Amino acid sequence: MLSGKKTEMSDHSFYALRDMIYERSGIFFPDQKKYILENRLLRRIEEGGFNDFEKYIDFLRFDSLRDREFSTLFDIVTTNETSFFRDMNQLEVFESFVLPQIVKEVEKAGYKKLRIWSAPCSTGEEPYTLAMLLLSKFPGIQGAGWDIEIHGSDISECVLNSARRGEYNDYSMRNVPPLYLDRYFTKNGNGKYGVKPEVKGIVRLSNINLFDNLRLRMFRGMNIVFCRNVLIYFDEAAKKRVIANIYDCLLPGGYLFIGHAESLFNISRAFKLVNINNILLYQK
Ligand SMILES: C[S@@+](CC[C@H](N)C(=O)[O-])C[C@H]1O[C@@H](n2cnc3c(N)ncnc32)[C@H](O)[C@@H]1O
Repeated sequence: MLSGKKTEMSDHSFYALRDMIYERSGIFFPDQKKYILENRLLRRIEEGGFNDFEKYIDFLRFDSLRDREFSTLFDIVTTNETSFFRDMNQLEVFESFVLPQIVKEVEKAGYKKLRIWSAPCSTGEEPYTLAMLLLSKFPGIQGAGWDIEIHGSDISECVLNSARRGEYNDYSMRNVPPLYLDRYFTKNGNGKYGVKPEVKGIVRLSNINLFDNLRLRMFRGMNIVFCRNVLIYFDEAAKKRVIANIYDCLLPGGYLFIGHAESLFNISRAFKLVNINNILLYQK
């Protein structure tokens, strides 16, 4: 156990840590969330043998292994709540309106290439859901010469490893409609549900920081982007930067879904706001 004094995070340490986290990721801890950062980091400081917050800050500033520690830090400070078929109203618009329109337009343009991006994807439920919706809407699409990639990216390596395993417990499966459960999952020996290879095969997972302007260039050429339930962790400047990056990644005419409680008001005027069945989405 750490001694009493060392377990306290001074305001000075709090500001130093939150600045470092913010500068690298856009994740912003306002003053009233100091206790969350403190609680989450206490165990890391103990486990990593850092002794106290000051030593931890020094390590993050100067040590040659600091990039690795930042990766661990992002595992700790991120909130990774997600689920299969999250916000079905949005997904219905994706399946019934956006997908058919994009598929038709792409075909008309004379090529069969489809790129969808779940940014961020957490433990994988979102990109796998998008893949299942696509495959059930267009059953023959994989054998019909289409080049399909559904990307899932996240800043946390820990959640990406879960996504790569593609195995989920009963609780994670709570919103999966029976039809999709039958078609796209297998019950594994360990009692968990595994995503079938035909779904996994079109999902590509990678560690991408949405604040990393340079690496995001790899994601240019997207038809549809889901950037749901992450903007809430950013301040206004960070939201603007991330949304501008995503705008650059979308093809003209491409669509952006954000969380149903999120908005681009004061963040970007670059998109056309589209209302379909009272679901708001953004078109480039
Ligand atoms: C609440 S989850 C949302 C997952 C999914 N989009 C959904 O709506 O269910 C938020 C995710 O954002 C990731 N995240 C936070 N900041 C990020 C950043 N700068 N770059 C990439 N991912 C980030 C976290 O690791 C976390 O997994």
